Amino acid sequence: MITNQLEQDLLYTYGELSEKEIKKFKDSTILITGCAGFLGFYYVHFFYRFREELGLKKVICLDNFMLGYPKWIDKMAADPKFVVKKFDIIKDGIESITEAAEADYIIHMASIASPIFYRQYPIETLDANVWGLRRLLDYYRERSVRGFLFYSSSEIYGDPADDAVPTPESYNGNVCATGPRACYDEAKRFGETMCMLFARRYHMPIGVARPFNNYGPGMKINDRRVPADFAQDIVEGKDITILSSGSPSRTFCYIADAVAGYLKVLLYGEYGYFNIGIDRPEITVAGLAEIYAKAGAEIFGYQGTIRYAVSEDKDYLTNNPQRRCPDVTKAKKTLGYLPKIEVEEGVRRFLQFIKESPEENLIW
Ligand SMILES: NC(=O)c1ccc[n+]([C@@H]2O[C@H](COP(=O)([O-])OP(=O)(O)OC[C@H]3O[C@@H](n4cnc5c(N)ncnc54)[C@H](O)[C@@H]3O)[C@@H](O)[C@H]2O)c1
Repeated sequence: MITNQLEQDLLYTYGELSEKEIKKFKDSTILITGCAGFLGFYYVHFFYRFREELGLKKVICLDNFMLGYPKWIDKMAADPKFVVKKFDIIKDGIESITEAAEADYIIHMASIASPIFYRQYPIETLDANVWGLRRLLDYYRERSVRGFLFYSSSEIYGDPADDAVPTPESYNGNVCATGPRACYDEAKRFGETMCMLFARRYHMPIGVARPFNNYGPGMKINDRRVPADFAQDIVEGKDITILSSGSPSRTFCYIADAVAGYLKVLLYGEYGYFNIGIDRPEITVAGLAEIYAKAGAEIFGYQGTIRYAVSEDKDYLTNNPQRRCPDVTKAKKTLGYLPKIEVEEGVRRFLQFIKESPEENLIW
């Protein structure tokens, strides 16, 4: 169900694309891996909402549904332009999806992104980003695709030194190869290397996006990332619980801005890697909790307070970066990416979306 807030957000994302970019989708088939996740929710709704305006031929949505099957996807599956299939990028052959041969644009985002969950599935996470990616690259290297988007992560930078914040694409990172986050961070780094090599040898138009902390519609409230935790506390009328000292800082990029950036990377048509996030304001987790409490009071009449606790997950804070803030100059200059929704506004939109949504949009 496309609620009022979601409609407003999808329209915003569409409006961030230039006419030239919109035309590039005409008569195209898009293949998405990881369609049942947070970003998948937003993408699938976006392509569904604008399937006629964009002139899409087909959208192939693949996921192994390891974190649940979303009911909302059934509506899209009933549309003749949409194909939804259970598919594991690690072990199922892409040849088994007959429509895959026609794909013009590939969006590879199958990989659990929430640290609590990827630590439960570390080898599967590594495999989706390394072998899953490799299988897709091998399959598409001799086919003339118009764009291939790989989802890397800002986590490839690890815990950056203070003088590397805001972090530009040229920063090489400070990553622990053997810590509890390594299955994710190092797999993304290796995935990026593979993209660079395939782009060079096979001249593939591979765009690598490095997302920085997204939140908004499509993020399950039981996702266990901080913006979801705080939203869940508000919905359940509990105190907002911070599971750290509250001092780590981030910039939080609202999904409507982020997906506009990802689409620009997909449509770029050449090899390139880009930070996609918002560069202001960098706030602490404690600051984010205050923003949630205020927006929660406005939208839900929330009356809770903010408290601190220790996570039951002993690795919750291990190798957790102290600061995360992107330098997005490259994406601004090269792609015309201009994120605008600051965190106070984004949190209000997210909570409004939650208030309007049926449960199938919030938990699956
Ligand atoms: N959301 C963010 O802020 C963020 C930040 C950095 C990177 N990313 C990257 O963006 C992508 C999407 O992120 P998200 O937040 O939607 O993640 P998510 O965890 O919400 O969803 C990931 C989806 O991938 C699916 N999946 C996992 N392994 C699979 C496999 N082997 N075969 C098929 N499907 C599989 C899961 O079932 C799930 O539906 C991921 O690659 C993630 O690493 C996201």
